[in-house]
Amino acid sequence: GVDALMRIPPSMLKLHNKKEDAWTAINGKVYNITPYLPYHPGGAKELMRVAGRDGTKLFSLTHAWVNADFMLDACLVGFLVSEPSS
Ligand code: HEM
Repeated sequence: GVDALMRIPPSMLKLHNKKEDAWTAINGKVYNITPYLPYHPGGAKELMRVAGRDGTKLFSLTHAWVNADFMLDACLVGFLVSEPSS
């Protein structure tokens, strides 16, 4: 449910940079891209370039016409937020 979604700062996103545990942020939303890796038409290697980081720019440069929000809806884990100040 929507109540399980997390607020994810870049430092947390960064930890999910392995094929078996890969997250990326696109337009402020953080997705678990691990299940999609074998299905990406551009290949897993290209998709892994955005693992653990904000992929918005690279994603829109390669295929701005693709609706990632629709495609990855089931893979949504939360929302990218700024780093909490300490
Ligand atoms: C192709 C989805 C991230 C590189 C595609 C296509 C989809 C897709 C649906 C087919 C598009 C079409 O034929 O019109 C996604 C999603 C991504 C993502 C949902 C993010 C979660 C990336 C990234 C890169 C990339 C980060 C590059 C660094 C490519 C390339 C193709 C492609 C090169 C063309 C493959 C070909 O037609 O031979 N992607 N993509 N994608 N994607 Fe991605």
